[in-house]
Amino acid sequence: MNRISWCGAVSVGACALAVLWGGTAAAGEAQQVTYSQEISRIVQAKCQECHRPKGLGPFSLMSYRQVKGWGKMIQEVVNSKRMPPWGLDPHVGEWANDPSFTPEELAALNAWVEGGMPEGDPAKLPVPRVFNDEWGIGEPDVVLEMPEEVTIAATGVVAYRYFTSDIDFEEDRYVKAIEVRPGNMKSVHHIIIFLQEPQAEGDSRGNFTENMLDVYAPGSPPGIFPDGVVRKIPKGSKLIWQVHYTPTGKEEKDRSRLGIIFAGGPEKEVLRTAFAVNDDFKIPPHHDDYVVEASKKIPADATVYSFTPHMHYRGKAMDFFLKYPDGKEVLACSVPAYDFNWQLDYQLKEPLRVPAGTVFRIVGRFDNSANNPNNPDPSKPVRWGEQTWEEMLMGGIFLSWADEATAK
Ligand code: HEC
Repeated sequence: MNRISWCGAVSVGACALAVLWGGTAAAGEAQQVTYSQEISRIVQAKCQECHRPKGLGPFSLMSYRQVKGWGKMIQEVVNSKRMPPWGLDPHVGEWANDPSFTPEELAALNAWVEGGMPEGDPAKLPVPRVFNDEWGIGEPDVVLEMPEEVTIAATGVVAYRYFTSDIDFEEDRYVKAIEVRPGNMKSVHHIIIFLQEPQAEGDSRGNFTENMLDVYAPGSPPGIFPDGVVRKIPKGSKLIWQVHYTPTGKEEKDRSRLGIIFAGGPEKEVLRTAFAVNDDFKIPPHHDDYVVEASKKIPADATVYSFTPHMHYRGKAMDFFLKYPDGKEVLACSVPAYDFNWQLDYQLKEPLRVPAGTVFRIVGRFDNSANNPNNPDPSKPVRWGEQTWEEMLMGGIFLSWADEATAK
């Protein structure tokens, strides 16, 4: 699962790049590819989000020296599609946040590395990208904290922790952007914030899952919503924090925070999440292609923005289908190379309008064989569970519909 960020709304350089790039990319013999001219722009748009001080990546790619130092390795990981992380079938759908290299960019990178990685004229460097190390959404209107500071033991397995906190808004509020930030980056593996609406108290897990407000996980961008679409936080709601800590070898402390930017008022549609979940499966030992499905009906005429697969280490692939009330079914998003290390959200270039009664169906594939390098133990049958050596099958979509449509 993942938080959403909308290309265009935020400075996802990858989106702008296609435009920037147009035509100048000729990796031809005539003109030499240089760092200052071409490579710096590609790295800025597609790598620096993570490869910068305080970023998620293990090293920075902010200067000529740094990029040159990693040059051969960069060529290898980009050509093998390990970086930047993505994993979608390029033939299905068009994606606003697709960071994949165009053939021209790839040719430029290869020509640059093979040409000895020349620096070129530093006067041609692009204006440096500015990163906000605090809040990716910008300065929040309010910041809500976890109800207590948590101490995480140095070693051992830490079960998911749940915390509940009140939100004391005086009235229903509408939200334009939202971001959960770990207090301690080293210890927090992921955080999911659920919204517990007053009337939903005591509801089943199904409903709980539906009300996901935001996620922090590797690769997840800040949640800035599309124009005209807001999240609603009804008066009297509570926040449920699900936090997964991983021990670092020494005792650590964390108190994570949620930043919120409000919208002026209710706009035309309210953003929601919907999940297809199957928690009743058993993957046999050594099975290398075990299929599990789940589906979920969309109750109102809605606009679909993005798809987000969630499985654990045995997760191998996931397809998202949309079946319309007239019986026609389309493959909307296909993830042939699922990787648990990345919790990505695939955002449609053109949001999709679907009629009430449309069903979205996910087909997940698991590899519980020894050929899966991430597999902790191929000799064990695997069932649903929260820990990473257990499995999950969840497919989420972000969608919006008019508020009246559900006000019964
Ligand atoms: C979403 C964050 C993210 C983005 C975007 C990203 N990286 Fe990475 N990169 C990582 C992380 C985290 C690691 C370390 C874990 C791993 O290797 O998977 C990594 C590892 C690497 C490595 C080392 C691989 C190895 O085997 O040790 C290279 C080289 C690299 N990235 C290059 C790039 C380049 C070039 C780009 C842009 C084209 C890029 N990355 C974009 C997060 C990112």
